[in-house]
Amino acid sequence: MLNIVVCVSGGGTNLQAIIDGIENKTIENTRVIGVISNNAGAYALKRAEAANVPAFCISPGSFGNRGEFNRAFLEKLRELKPDLIVLAGFLVILPPEMIETYRGRIINIHPSLIPSFCGTGFYGLKVHEAVLARGVKVTGATVHYVDEGTDTGEIILQKAVEVKEGDTPEILQRRVMEEAEWVILPAAINKIAHNIPPGDGHDFA
Ligand code: GRF
Repeated sequence: MLNIVVCVSGGGTNLQAIIDGIENKTIENTRVIGVISNNAGAYALKRAEAANVPAFCISPGSFGNRGEFNRAFLEKLRELKPDLIVLAGFLVILPPEMIETYRGRIINIHPSLIPSFCGTGFYGLKVHEAVLARGVKVTGATVHYVDEGTDTGEIILQKAVEVKEGDTPEILQRRVMEEAEWVILPAAINKIAHNIPPGDGHDFA
């Protein structure tokens, strides 16, 4: 059984896709043992509650400094003992110690086809704004392992999504979520739950 902790900051639609994937068995041998949010108002916390998943809010604002926040966050992870940590729209810079401790056991979903439109400053709607400004015809999403860089870790799955005439950043963001993110994030977790290395099983999604 793959025990996962999902880290979130916002709406939690990717968390929902994971919860639903486990429920409808597109993700096998996996359970969500905890959800951690840095934001008390995140709707993702309500989704966790509704699914009877233990949810925790650890917010940098409630600590005196970054070091104290990092310690509390790491302590919660140590307590939960996840096999895999899934960053699903988690807008926090990870403590370096966390990357070291959980190397090869942290994955992230990014709303573009890496290496395009990724790295520092490319998050949320900014990614889709940049895609439209450049005029590319195809975008998509990527699930990758997390290392010390920003969006530089090994790629697990990608899925392309068409950019359409008249798209706004919001419309494109929604299409990328529906057609790519909510498909490849559950698929990547299922792949890991079956011990399939990133380079194999390209048609797994
Ligand atoms: C998604 O677009 C994800 O790719 C990005 O943040 C967004 C999170 O959405 N990293 P949600 O909270 O899962 O609804």
